[in-house]
Amino acid sequence: MKNRKLVMIPGPTPVVRSIQDQMGRDTVAFGDPKFVEDFKGVLVDLKKLWGTTGEVFVVAGTGTMAMEMAISNILKRGDNLLIISHGYFGDRFIELATRKGINVDVLRSEWGKIVPIEEIEAKLREKNYQAMTVTHVDTSTAAVAPIKEIGDMMKNFPDTIYIVDGVAATAGEREYVDEYNIDILLTASQKAFGVAPGLAILWASERAMERRATLGTIPEYYVDFDKWLPIMHDTSKYYATPAVNMIWALQESIKIIKEEGLENRYERHIRNAKAMRAAIEVMGFSILADKGNRAATLSCVLYPDGIDDVKFRTILAEEGVQVAGGLGAYAGKMFRIGHMGNIDYLDMVGAISAIERTLFRMGIDVLGKGVEALQRGLLVK
Ligand SMILES: Cc1ncc(COP(=O)(O)O)c(C=O)c1O
Repeated sequence: MKNRKLVMIPGPTPVVRSIQDQMGRDTVAFGDPKFVEDFKGVLVDLKKLWGTTGEVFVVAGTGTMAMEMAISNILKRGDNLLIISHGYFGDRFIELATRKGINVDVLRSEWGKIVPIEEIEAKLREKNYQAMTVTHVDTSTAAVAPIKEIGDMMKNFPDTIYIVDGVAATAGEREYVDEYNIDILLTASQKAFGVAPGLAILWASERAMERRATLGTIPEYYVDFDKWLPIMHDTSKYYATPAVNMIWALQESIKIIKEEGLENRYERHIRNAKAMRAAIEVMGFSILADKGNRAATLSCVLYPDGIDDVKFRTILAEEGVQVAGGLGAYAGKMFRIGHMGNIDYLDMVGAISAIERTLFRMGIDVLGKGVEALQRGLLVK
């Protein structure tokens, strides 16, 4: 008999039944009064939970589109952008911005490490940057950036819009928008929200909206804040068709988040991450990211000598668990496993036990060791 498929890649993450049910509902007109209310409620909750008096946008699209939305509404041709890159997704901002004629400077860390705040501050003093991007968790390395501390430092640079890519973090890592001095936080539905792919979500501060106003008409049409703002203020209005079922799915995800409590959710992610990593390490793997900056949402796991990546991931898939391969120079050298969103003990025990069986089939007998470490980690209060 074939195993079921447990999707443990770092997004999309497993979608629980109650969220799936929302996606499976009969679709209604976007002007349906009940949907209009539901959409409005989603926006109110997103602002409240993420702690901002600014704006929030929920638009059909992916994380990359949210990145484009941020850049397009904040910068114009000839502006200066500082990109803090901790890996593949930090680098994605480079092409995105240079295609628009924006001048970019990049501060890069080695993969698994992060750029020290002092270096960021020194760079910001060199010239007038209209904006800076920081990827909260770079999914290629599972390194987490100290976005709160960076936000505190950014108070010294009031003319630089602080953009945070939360695609692999939001709803799993703390992000309080106003408190952290974030001007734009962008994310997508398929990771720690535990919704299927399809929605881009973006919070924008008052300062970000003021910057948008200085740009006048921008070349981009679909991602223009000015086009979407009337809908976000009155969800009965139309600009481009809202993804009705996806918005219901997000509403259900937010309901789950409120029931759990956002702070409890963040703590759960930290506890799960520690337990997963303890299990992974006891089985003989090591973790790419430095100890001080490991994400709660996913881990990048280096193979011990002698383990073939493709063989490992193929057997693991037969055992029921899908993980992702390494990116860039780490392709073939590591795998990436998500532990975010609405995964539970069964998912985690299932994933670790499948890794044990995979290793066993590859001649390495660590049966029981990973699961024991995981369970001990999960039972710690
Ligand atoms: C940190 C980060 N930013 C941006 C993206 C791009 O998002 P999407 O694939 O939804 O376009 C990803 C995707 O994994 C990501 O992990």
